[in-house]
Amino acid sequence: MLMDRSGTHWIRRMKASGAGIAILAAAIALPPATADAAERGEVTYTKDIAPILQRSCQNCHRPSSMAPMSLMTYEEVRPWARSIRQRTSQTGAVGKMPPWFIDKTVGIQDFKDDVSLSAAEIETIGRWVDNGAPRGNPADLPAPRTFAGADEWDIGEPDLIVTTPAVTMAAEAPDWWGALEPVALGIDEDRYVAAMQVKEFSDATGGVGGKFIFHHALMTMLDEDGNTFGDYGWPNTTTGRFGWTFDPEVGRYVKGGSSLLYHSVHLHANGEDTTAYLKVAFKFHPAGYQPTKQLGSLGFGTPDVDLRPMEADQAFEFFMTVEEHTRMTTFGPHMHAPGVRFCIEAIYGGRSETLSCAGYDHNWIRAYLYAEDAAPLLPKGTILRGTGYFDNTPANPNIVDPRNWTGFGHRSIDNMLLHIGPAITLTEEEFQAEVAARRERLGLAPGETVVGCPLCSLSEFPADRPAQDQNQQ
Ligand code: HEC
Repeated sequence: MLMDRSGTHWIRRMKASGAGIAILAAAIALPPATADAAERGEVTYTKDIAPILQRSCQNCHRPSSMAPMSLMTYEEVRPWARSIRQRTSQTGAVGKMPPWFIDKTVGIQDFKDDVSLSAAEIETIGRWVDNGAPRGNPADLPAPRTFAGADEWDIGEPDLIVTTPAVTMAAEAPDWWGALEPVALGIDEDRYVAAMQVKEFSDATGGVGGKFIFHHALMTMLDEDGNTFGDYGWPNTTTGRFGWTFDPEVGRYVKGGSSLLYHSVHLHANGEDTTAYLKVAFKFHPAGYQPTKQLGSLGFGTPDVDLRPMEADQAFEFFMTVEEHTRMTTFGPHMHAPGVRFCIEAIYGGRSETLSCAGYDHNWIRAYLYAEDAAPLLPKGTILRGTGYFDNTPANPNIVDPRNWTGFGHRSIDNMLLHIGPAITLTEEEFQAEVAARRERLGLAPGETVVGCPLCSLSEFPADRPAQDQNQQ
């Protein structure tokens, strides 16, 4: 996400800084007189564009967030109008804005925190730019959206903030992989984590979005004796993540007296000598909280990625049998630079249906959280099929050199193909109750079902034939 992927990108930035300002100012026509466009019923910034930017862009495009420029005011937005049209209307995932790549033509469409633009909004932006990107009537401008400040947290007020040891990267240095010294959490009773967020702080002065040296960092917890505990992984920190709110039914456990260990950290140089550290913020469930469900995983993948050079449209499949009834809460595609698309299908009772497909841009490792009534309810025995699509040609700007064959490996120039899928394991009783509740909330008639809920068609689970045997007839 920190790479400049086109020459124009640089040119624009150089113009905006210093000597090029005059050229820039000359290149941008002055906006038409304020209220005229609005009076003519045309698309304007104040009426039509500002609300879109507030909802879908400003969380990143604001001072002290991750994106390269702020899009908070008309003056800030206007020079980027053409670029905004291009990035919002492109069909490929790589570089698309906002970075939300769910395929809207197939599979489940209801997600939490969906910031994607509708086709109508994309068209509105296009018409606004074609029409000279007018400001419009100032009275139409919505109240500004407020955000957490640089020292505040998107997850709300944390109960505990842990600071890692500082690390230093020279202005130009090879990437570094390694572990940080563990840090004691400083809590003496067992607690369950409800939400967490990790932020990088540093002495780098570089522009917004260009200053990070932590590429990613993997963490675990150690108990008092220095042993890892918990049968689940903690989420991986990648540059620019906002935080995680875990499903309230399955808080993540930490023991009193434990320490946080970053066992695998990847640092990269940012062009400036930089010393940085992470602050890890935790929000706990109240003392005495106990999880009411069991955390599960639909994590699966394959090392068999055998990518031929200079070829687009290469696809590889991988499979998993779901051993317990499961609510799939997350769709988490994971590939590397050549990846461009990722799909998951569920095969159940002889039928296959696509749960979700998304484009893929390796600058963004995204997890998509299903909305409550959309999260697949997968009966035991379901087979999941993942498919990764790769473009190993110069058309994919994320590839360093498409003339190379590549296979599985941990570096970004190697490949990966896997699904990162925290989920919730359900007992037979819980599963039947969730299916019944969903049927009721969605008002399904007998025999009627929805994507991702094969047993939603059953108005009653046959007493003599448990649901898990249905697909073995
Ligand atoms: C999750 C954070 C995030 C969101 C949401 C987001 N952006 Fe971005 N945007 C970035 C980052 C980071 C970059 C720099 C990397 C890149 O160019 O892809 C960027 C780059 C851009 C660029 C190219 C800038 C250049 O230097 O050429 C444009 C234009 C843009 N965004 C517009 C938008 C618009 C419009 C929206 C909302 C519809 C939006 N972005 C939503 C993070 C975000």
